[in-house]
Amino acid sequence: MIEKMGNLRRTNMCGDLREDNIGEEVVLMGWVQRERNLGSLIFIDLRDTTGICQIVIDSTVSKEIFKKAEKIRAEYVLAVKGSVRKRESINKDIPTGNIEVLAKELKVLDISETPPIYIKDEDNVSETMRLKYRFLDLRKPKMQNNLKIRHKTAKVIRDFLDENNFVEIETPMLTKPTPEGARDYLVPSRVNPGEFYALPQSPQLMKQLLMVSGMDRYYQIVKCFRDEDLRANRQPEFTQIDMEMSFVDIDDIIDLNEKLLYRLFKEIKGIEIKLPIERMTYKEAMDRFGVDKPDLRFGFELVDISDIVKDSEFKVFSGTINNKGCVKGINVKGYESKFSRKDITSLENYVKDFGAKGLAWIKITEEGISSPIAKFLSQEELDNILAKMEGKVGDLLLFVADKPKIVFDSLGNLRNEVARRLNIIEDEDLKLVWITEFPLFEYDEEEGRYVAKHHPFTHPMEEDIDLLETHPEKVRAKAYDIVINGDEIGGGSIRISDRELQKRMFKALGFTEEEAQDKFGFLLDAFKYGTPPHGGIAYGFDRLIMLLTGSQNIRDVIAFPKTQSATCLLTGAPTNISDEQLKEIHISLDIEK
Ligand code: AMO
Ligand code: AMP
Repeated sequence: MIEKMGNLRRTNMCGDLREDNIGEEVVLMGWVQRERNLGSLIFIDLRDTTGICQIVIDSTVSKEIFKKAEKIRAEYVLAVKGSVRKRESINKDIPTGNIEVLAKELKVLDISETPPIYIKDEDNVSETMRLKYRFLDLRKPKMQNNLKIRHKTAKVIRDFLDENNFVEIETPMLTKPTPEGARDYLVPSRVNPGEFYALPQSPQLMKQLLMVSGMDRYYQIVKCFRDEDLRANRQPEFTQIDMEMSFVDIDDIIDLNEKLLYRLFKEIKGIEIKLPIERMTYKEAMDRFGVDKPDLRFGFELVDISDIVKDSEFKVFSGTINNKGCVKGINVKGYESKFSRKDITSLENYVKDFGAKGLAWIKITEEGISSPIAKFLSQEELDNILAKMEGKVGDLLLFVADKPKIVFDSLGNLRNEVARRLNIIEDEDLKLVWITEFPLFEYDEEEGRYVAKHHPFTHPMEEDIDLLETHPEKVRAKAYDIVINGDEIGGGSIRISDRELQKRMFKALGFTEEEAQDKFGFLLDAFKYGTPPHGGIAYGFDRLIMLLTGSQNIRDVIAFPKTQSATCLLTGAPTNISDEQLKEIHISLDIEK
């Protein structure tokens, strides 16, 4: 039954035909979305990457074609020659709904087994099936559209950066460990027994070398590899839009990137974002939102009530404060009635995941205050809390008392969770913010020392340099993140290009000169030969595409993604390898059975 295309050549795409084409003779090629046999007429929805066109096969036109068409099933590949005519029953749901093609010639180019998943966007099949049969999943219009938006976005970025004198330069995939803080993916070297390459977590060190080389402005749309716990917006291999510029400071990088973001949203979404984009210091973000990637599409900001309750009879509060902790709350304004006690218990369980010991609450209802903690608070304390949190009838106040880190973490995340549960976030709403002045270091409890929050080449803010030795925890960095709708879409920094400062930085991080030389020697050596001031940024390209396509899951914007456990269900990677291959790379396995 399978036929060759022969001389037939496609003249049009299925989704492109309109009333203007009526009367034309066309040749379409594509897949059968569905077929309906009405006895003397067969209707076929033919699909290609542009959309769907209805094909009519009329037994009175050709018995032979009709007989062939009777055997056609979903996902068969067809070539159809015919004339475009006006459709009797118009389908308003599809752009080609006014027309149909009356077949005069029909070739079955391939047949198909019954596909294990339906080829339609609303198919609610498990993601496991979708990933196993990814090649079919990618036939869905939504998925095709996501990949096209991904392509178009890359093109807009390339055009913009080209206009701004950036040069796209490839950097190696087989390289030395890069300092981005995740685990490395390692590749054994056959020719150098016992030695390993690391796949890059980012091209960070290479792009800095390119600045030393005088390339002035570098960019790359590049794969990065990080072995870390995966989440809805994390993949073990993901793509960055990575750039670096010479002779710049923070504002130069931010200005250029705002123009890039403006162009992107304009060309891809038709939205004109307002420039300049709001900037917020890390400290302000933490104080007001509890997280360094605040979602500014809704309120419920954190309020510190430590001063009010520090001497309270309620020991959960006052005891915590005496123990170097704090008490903060959020006002879920106007939504008191949306949360039953059971709902609040569920919120309490939610914050416990972030280390909170409990979730205290006050409901302000028409009948008065309802709260398990009110009886422990004096009237004055209660009044002051309501005043400070602007509590009015209809509000729900939620509190956590703990060490600051736990309070920030649990309330910051609770704020987002409450908004999600209330379903109050407008999908179309877009809130961009630069977070600036990150701490240069963070204290690693496990290692018992300070580690770089960004990476060890991040430049401290000039006014804080003198604190490097005395108060490392107070030093702020020339680092910035671009946060959109509560997601960290990109981040970067100005780099240290002064050798003396770099030495002080390594010292603060507890690296000896030898350790620094061993890890980053090639970069430090390069810095001896004339280093321009430089800095850059990298965007999570996949996250950007999630935003531009409105996708909730990073896997929906990647053609062949990995699962939560870093496997590929389509190919079966990772796999065992043969003993011969292992021997070749001088590796023997030691796995507990
Ligand atoms: P950073 O580590 O912040 O910076 O990475 C830049 C951006 O990449 C995205 N991203 C990820 N996306 C998907 N899956 C992951 N596993 C993942 N990890 C990170 C985030 C993040 O904002 N070299 C520096 C940049 C610089 O300083 O110029 C860097 O890699 O959106
Ligand atoms: P208890 O006296 O332990 O029954 O706690 C009274 C209320 O305080 C309950 O609603 C608890 O959820 C809440 N609670 C307990 N510990 C904390 C805490 N560290 N922060 C906020 N609320 C808490």
